[in-house]
Amino acid sequence: MSNLIKPDISVNIGRLKLKNPILTASGTFGYADEYDDFMNVSNIGAIVTKGITLNPKTGNPQPRIKEVKNGLINSIGLENVGIQDFIDKKLPVLKENNIDFILNIAGASIEEYIEIAKICQSNNIETVELNLSCPNVKSGCLEFGKDEKTLYKLVSEVRKNFDNTLIVKLSSNVSFPEKMAKTAEKGGADAISAINTVKAMNIDINKNLKGFKSIKGGLSGSCIKPLALNFIYEIRQHIAIPIIGMGGISCFQDMLEFFAVGADAVQIGTANFTHPDLSDTLVIELNNFMKQQNYGSLAELVRDLRYEY
Ligand SMILES: Cc1cc2nc3c(=O)[nH]c(=O)nc-3n(C[C@H](O)[C@H](O)[C@H](O)COP(=O)(O)O)c2cc1C
Repeated sequence: MSNLIKPDISVNIGRLKLKNPILTASGTFGYADEYDDFMNVSNIGAIVTKGITLNPKTGNPQPRIKEVKNGLINSIGLENVGIQDFIDKKLPVLKENNIDFILNIAGASIEEYIEIAKICQSNNIETVELNLSCPNVKSGCLEFGKDEKTLYKLVSEVRKNFDNTLIVKLSSNVSFPEKMAKTAEKGGADAISAINTVKAMNIDINKNLKGFKSIKGGLSGSCIKPLALNFIYEIRQHIAIPIIGMGGISCFQDMLEFFAVGADAVQIGTANFTHPDLSDTLVIELNNFMKQQNYGSLAELVRDLRYEY
C-alpha cells in the first residue's frame, strides 16, 4: 500500500460506526467539554460519558480518590447531572462540536435502567453503555453484573426498550467472565466493554501507629492492565460480538496488546488524568504506524496481532 493513502482505521460496534477505535472511558473524561483545551475531541473515535442515572447524584463524601502505586482508587459514587440535565445541557454541546459519544448509564434497579433506556430511545441517543460493574455505589450496578440470571433479565429488558447500539460493561469482580459475557450476548448486547475498576482498599497507618485511615473503592490504571488483558482473552473465545477493551492503557504498545487478546476498540481511562491528550496522540500514532507498516486497514493489523491466537 502506498504511504500516501490514509489507512482505514474505522471500526463498527453494532450499528455504531467509529472513525477510529480509540475512545475515552466513562468517568475519566467528563462530558468532553472539560478537555477542549487539550485537544480537538472530535478527532477520537468517541467519548463515553460519565455514568448517568435517572436523577442527579452528588456521589460519596470526600475523600474519594487516592493515588496508589501505578494506579488510582476511586470511590466517586456516580456523581452526575442526571439524564434530563444531560439531554438539556450536555447533549447540545456534544452535537454542536460534532463529538461522537456513548452514553454510560447506571441504575439502582432494573426499572430504573429501563426508564433511562426509554428516555434514550425517545431522544435518539445512538449508543448506550450499561454500567453493570461500578463497585462504588451501595445498590445497583455491580449487583446486576454478578449473577447470570439478573444480568440476563436486565440486559434483555433494556434491549426490549432500546433499538440502537447496546454495549454491556462487565465487571472483573466475577469468577467466570466468559459466562457473564455469553449471558450479556444472549440478552441482546451488541458489544461488551471491559473492565471496570477492580474492588480494592488502601491503608495509611497513622504516624503514632494508633490505627489507620482507609479508602475502599475501585482500582484503575496501569496496575490492572494484566487483569484486563486476561479478562478479554478469556471472553473473546466465547462470544461473537465486538469487545471494547480497557484497563490501564497508557501508551501505544498497551493498545496493541488489547487488540492482540481480542479487543476491537479500546477506551483510555485513568491515563487521561496525567496525559489529557493521550487518546488524540494514540489516533495519530496508530495512523503513522499503519502507514509505516503498510497496513491498509485496522482489520489487517488486528489479524496479524492475533496470529497465534
Ligand atoms: C474517577 C473514575 C470514575 C469512573 N466512573 C465510571 C462511571 O461513571 N461509569 C463506568 O462505567 N466506569 C467508570 N469508571 C471506570 C472506567 O471507565 C474504566 O472502566 C476503569 O477505570 C479502567 O480503565 P483505566 O484503568 O484505563 O482507568 C471510572 C473510573 C475512574 C478512575
